Amino acid sequence: MIAIDVHLDADAAATMARDVRLGLCAYPKELAPKYFYDERGSRLFERITELDEYYPTRAEREILAARSAEILAVAGRPGTLVELGSGSASKTRHLLDAMRDGGALDTYVPVDISVEITERTAAELVDEYPGLAVRGLVCDFERDLERIPAQDPSRIVAFLGGTIGNLYPRPRQEFLERIAALLGPADHLLLGTDLIKETARLEAAYNDAAGVTAEFNKNVLAVLNSELGADFDLDAFEHVARYDAEAERMDIRLRSLADQLVRLDGLDLEVPFAAGEEMRTEISTKFTRERLESVYAGAGLELSGWFTDAAGDYALSLARPV
Ligand code: SAH
Ligand code: AVI
Repeated sequence: MIAIDVHLDADAAATMARDVRLGLCAYPKELAPKYFYDERGSRLFERITELDEYYPTRAEREILAARSAEILAVAGRPGTLVELGSGSASKTRHLLDAMRDGGALDTYVPVDISVEITERTAAELVDEYPGLAVRGLVCDFERDLERIPAQDPSRIVAFLGGTIGNLYPRPRQEFLERIAALLGPADHLLLGTDLIKETARLEAAYNDAAGVTAEFNKNVLAVLNSELGADFDLDAFEHVARYDAEAERMDIRLRSLADQLVRLDGLDLEVPFAAGEEMRTEISTKFTRERLESVYAGAGLELSGWFTDAAGDYALSLARPV
């Protein structure tokens, strides 16, 4: 059974128009990473996850392959898996397998901003897991988190891939507080976080030799061209990704290669870029266990499980409301 609720209405288009106008008129300029993910952006992200340099996906898969049963036992053997930013749910299969093998698997609730990938993933999963109910929600999870239906005696809310790292501290705290409010007494959050490591490895993961991350980064400009009638020349920008050790995050930008004027018909706006000017398109925060414990505490959550890959590059943690 598949039911997918789509909440990307005129409101979402207006939100995008407002966000982009604010971001392009600010100094320094900035765009939100959620706008990477049209169909092409989702596919480019899939290619990133297969790159040699991009270790987080492999590390998270290693943990889920080895420890899903244990994670689910600590989480009280839930029958429902809610997944925020579910994408292609490729690693999620390990959790679903363990839920099925434990006899608890009932409902999967993917929550993602991309319609195409959510529909494709839902269709694949009902084939792979006979009897599974998929109740998807296509929305901006920062806006529409409360639309996730309350149900079932216990559920696990997974937020994998390190996507929490793409939020700034303040919205991150608010988001975790809202997740905490959503969790019933028997529910758990399962959160994927990339861990701090040598700068060279971090920077290599976001500057792959094949240039896929650069293409992914520039895709946000293609999205603005198609959604807001903009005339960005993708070749007139270059990808920049540096580790900011003080803020403990990757800082990902697009740098203008020339003085140029970009027109966005949909916003009736013209935006000048100077040669060398950088516009931030994403941050990707890296954590330590201690830092994450304090982030949880600030949001009314407490750590109840900690699982890393053998190399200690990446962590999955379980948390529950205090
Ligand atoms: N969980 C998958 C995908 C991570 S990529 C993995 O671990 O590989 C980030 C995913 O979050 C994408 O599928 C993107 O479409 C989704 N996403 C990003 N911002 C979002 C937002 N504000 N609301 C809903 N989904 C979002
Ligand atoms: C989705 N998110 C966790 C990825 C990350 O690593 O921050 C997005 C990404 N950006 C560039 N490469 C991957």
